Amino acid sequence: MGPWQEVPENSLLLATRAGTRVVPLPPPADAVSGLIQAATRHTTAAPARSRSAAASADPSTATPAPRFTLDQRLPADYLTDSLRRDVVAGLSATPKILPPKWFYDARGSDLFEQITELAEYYPTRVEERILARIAPEIAGATGAATVFEPGSGSSRKTRLLLDALTARGTLRCYAPLDVSPSALEQAGAALIRDYPALTVAATVADFEADLTVPHDAPSPRLITFLGSTIGNLDPTERREFYDMLRADLGPADAFLLGADLVKDRDVLVRAYDDSQGVTAEFNKNVLHVINRELGADFDPDSFAHVALWNEEEERMEMHLRSRYAQTVKVRALDLSVDFAADELMRTEISCKFRRDGLTAELSDCGLDVRNWWTDEAEQFAVLLAVPSR
Ligand code: AVJ
Repeated sequence: MGPWQEVPENSLLLATRAGTRVVPLPPPADAVSGLIQAATRHTTAAPARSRSAAASADPSTATPAPRFTLDQRLPADYLTDSLRRDVVAGLSATPKILPPKWFYDARGSDLFEQITELAEYYPTRVEERILARIAPEIAGATGAATVFEPGSGSSRKTRLLLDALTARGTLRCYAPLDVSPSALEQAGAALIRDYPALTVAATVADFEADLTVPHDAPSPRLITFLGSTIGNLDPTERREFYDMLRADLGPADAFLLGADLVKDRDVLVRAYDDSQGVTAEFNKNVLHVINRELGADFDPDSFAHVALWNEEEERMEMHLRSRYAQTVKVRALDLSVDFAADELMRTEISCKFRRDGLTAELSDCGLDVRNWWTDEAEQFAVLLAVPSR
């Protein structure tokens, strides 16, 4: 062995038969963005390939393929444009309606996190308990190499599945899809840190418009849609979602769905109208979002939170009730909107399911339910479906 050699920080000591040499590494970027290779829809695969080609030609500049990639599929003004469209359409409709996807700015996401910790809000806890119990079974049944998760958010519950698939030895890639690049970057950085053999192929997209799995994600793929997000979609929107999903599903792929079940009305209403008023704040947050993004002058205090059970449709609904007659202006839309005293504006539907109905609607879209798991009290269900042939 030769003498000690000082190796400056961010350098590599390369030892070969020809001798040793200090190779400087690229300057350290910040912890998160340094791991990220941003790409557009059309160029995701290309830079990765040209990089590894360069690497094999000259080993001294060898860089392994990035373990985190971000495929930005949303056009530049997509979010503002779709918010504008939703607000124009929704505030001109009778009754007025705003889609629930606009709750989730940073504050709204934080409020939702708080909701999941409330005693009254059972779905998150119950689903997590079911998943912890059945994750090894799911890993065995699917042998998935990729977990694809539309609407991934913070990817917290997914770890139960990633752990089970890692233990099983089949997992290679996690492919989250979300409208929020920052949520994807945060989740991705944590995951490649905690799962040393995992590749994270993230997609910035709106799952209601684009549900395609990254083309290079290895099969078999497990598509997960947890947290009863499916309940936010009405029957027509659910069919569109299943159809889009089914079109992209190979014969060995599977679909894991978490769905909240029909139950006692009072339990449901309490879950959406908690005693601390967190859900009320969450509901009103959509007004803060519209004020900030579209220059509206909603006074959130002039609206009351309403949670009601729609027996006919078997769904929970959240509304905002105008406490008195008022006119709201939305500057960016040049829009003036009248509210009557006590007028309701619907901000969310949260459909509740029964085994028969859910099995039938999936089967109508070419998806066969293979497994159906619930908790002891049958509050929540997790199901595994595969393409019918
Ligand atoms: C995130 C759509 C599943 O519908 O229960 C929580 C959102 N709304 N409290 C749900 C929500 C009010 C939640 N999902």
